Amino acid sequence: MRDPLPPTNDPDWVLDAPGFDVFREHGIESRFAIGNGFLGVRASRTVGRGPTWTTWQHSLIWASWPRTYVAGLFDTPNTEPPVPALVPVADWLRVVIQLDGQTLLLRRGETQSHERKLDMKRGLLWVNWKQRTPAGIVVQVRTLRLVSQAERALGLLFLSLELDHDGVEVMLEASFESAGVGMRAMRVEEELGVWHTSESGKGLAMAGSAVLTLEDYVRTPSAVGPLRREWRWRSVAGQAASLERLLAAARTDTPEEDPAPLATAMLRRAKAVGGGAVLAAHTAAWATRWQLSDVAIEGDKELDRGLRFAIYHLNSAANPEDPRVSIGARGLTGDAYLGHVFWDTDIYLLPFYIATWPEAARSLLMYRYHTLAGARAKARRGGWRGALFAWESADTGEETTPDQVIGPFGLPVDVLSGKQEQHIASDVAYAVWQYWRATGDVAFLLEAGAEILLETARFWASRAKLEADGRRHIRGVIGPDEYHEGVDDNAYTNILARWNIARALELVGMLRLRWPTRWHELGAQLGLDAPELALWAEVVATLVTGQDSATGLIEQFAGFHQLAPIDLSQPEYASRKMPMDVVLGHDATQRTQVVKQADVVALLALVPEEFDATTRQLNYSHYERLCSHGSSLSRSMHALVGARVGAAELALRYLKETAALDLSPNAADSAGGVHIAALGGLWQAVVFGFCGLSLGGDKLALAPALPADWQSATLRVCWHGRRVKLRITGGGRDVEATLEAGEAMSLVVHGVERMLQPA
Ligand code: BGC
Repeated sequence: MRDPLPPTNDPDWVLDAPGFDVFREHGIESRFAIGNGFLGVRASRTVGRGPTWTTWQHSLIWASWPRTYVAGLFDTPNTEPPVPALVPVADWLRVVIQLDGQTLLLRRGETQSHERKLDMKRGLLWVNWKQRTPAGIVVQVRTLRLVSQAERALGLLFLSLELDHDGVEVMLEASFESAGVGMRAMRVEEELGVWHTSESGKGLAMAGSAVLTLEDYVRTPSAVGPLRREWRWRSVAGQAASLERLLAAARTDTPEEDPAPLATAMLRRAKAVGGGAVLAAHTAAWATRWQLSDVAIEGDKELDRGLRFAIYHLNSAANPEDPRVSIGARGLTGDAYLGHVFWDTDIYLLPFYIATWPEAARSLLMYRYHTLAGARAKARRGGWRGALFAWESADTGEETTPDQVIGPFGLPVDVLSGKQEQHIASDVAYAVWQYWRATGDVAFLLEAGAEILLETARFWASRAKLEADGRRHIRGVIGPDEYHEGVDDNAYTNILARWNIARALELVGMLRLRWPTRWHELGAQLGLDAPELALWAEVVATLVTGQDSATGLIEQFAGFHQLAPIDLSQPEYASRKMPMDVVLGHDATQRTQVVKQADVVALLALVPEEFDATTRQLNYSHYERLCSHGSSLSRSMHALVGARVGAAELALRYLKETAALDLSPNAADSAGGVHIAALGGLWQAVVFGFCGLSLGGDKLALAPALPADWQSATLRVCWHGRRVKLRITGGGRDVEATLEAGEAMSLVVHGVERMLQPA
């Protein structure tokens, strides 16, 4: 198994990180992370690093932040405030090498070359490292790793080691580094470790094997211990030693379940077929993913690459097989946001999955369905009815937003979004509806989707209060623009709440007509009666929207237009290094029209049909000027809407800035993980923006307008069980559509309907 698979040389599919720079290292480890929606592994090097433990860091910096995550493995650590976080699991990739008793470390001796390559096409990470030790021995270590897209429990590492000297005493140890794992070890055996979380009742099993081959002979370990094997031999110059490590992991969610049998059975199967077969199944599964989801842009290499990177991470983040987990704000690529799930998933990520991987989309929505009990409890606590999903959600659906965090000046800052950022209720409903419209998945709608739509509508109907002016108001919220807290009648919140209730009423009509038995059951189960439905209709008719009917301008929230205007192009703001709320301070920010991120603009993106073209244009240009893009989510929405309203140049700039977020050389912010919502937003800005695709209508439709430099854009979408390939040329005028799977269907291009027949 000397070189099981050489790195591909296709630059379109490979990200390269030559050299080693500790200040960029944490970002690279996130960016080059591998994942399959169950396991996520940062791209920390396997060999040549010293130990890591959890400690106060003071003024030093960890040279590496090795992390393997298991989706859904949450526990509440000893933080203040105590909120659940993803528990990092034992590092199954660690290999220690000693040469004549000296540990091989990157910091010791001279690094002759160090390179990491991420093959986005096959979901593989290579590291090739050549080091001259202080003793003058030149060592070459090459590794290849994956977590399987075909069998999510599995991970695989190939390592090859070559020395230029004869007679060096080599010791190679493959172990699981588990310092800093905040779990109780229940069993640690030669090939199996089982841990339990302290609070949440979860179990984790990691079964691992390691085989060393020298000169085509499998070598017996010189020592074995718990999750540890060690080999010793004398080197022959130019002779390669090869290590193959397999991992099988399993998570259980209750104390009664034992994850060990699952992991050991999986490991046994993987050992029986061998690493080569695991690798082959994995690359075949990735080929399928790309076949369904690739988007190619001719005419802008950099953007094309940025988009591939986005699609790579989106495909790495989801797990269609586990409806109990979702995707956190940084996927499984870093610690930031503790693995918590935000509206990012429903609004920024779901569209990608709906269009390219409906099974994953369904699973993500089933996760929300399974958290309905928590959402109901949260609504009840606030004195309302129905379901209000957690702003930050972990495994149970309980609200997990910390009440306070440490702010930029080292002092605690109140976080109100867990209480006030209630638009999450309609964000989830929105995702459910989009999925239903694009797939026609009746089973999902009847089993889960309907209940989410009805319960969120019910929440809004109880939340909006009738006031003396004869209108209903929603007071005391935070909109997507988190800079302004406790505001009244945030347009995004109110208009989506109205939309949510209107869709629920539409659904009731549909259920009555098409699935009356289910309607009777559900209506009875939820206690929905005619007076309540009449109230919903009244709320739709009377809810304040914030739109001025004379000018068409939408007021972001009541009183927003009266706040102090801001000119973000002023040099002192334009050259800022800090977010605007830090520049101005919390209180001044509240009194100013500065917007953190797409708010009204996000509304225009989600429900364009609620506004006419002039209104969309007017509000886009009004709010675009006020937006400081204090969140990585913001620019992609501005790109999407900009493309739709004909602000192509601006849109393209935002698109490029979004693509650079995790890819620019100084993307230091990626240290805590990739910005997966921005990556989903990038896909949307291209597909829904420039390619003008819409999935939500009765027919699949597109009205592309490509930037001048793009010769073509090619994409694939799933729609009602079909698979369609679309190639757009001529600046958007010409669309070549191929129905790759499924029955004949119509497609509307620039308003003209045509029939697609199976290819
Ligand atoms: C943004 C939110 C987002 C969260 C997680 C915040 O900074 O303002 O909109 O949901 O980050 O990505």
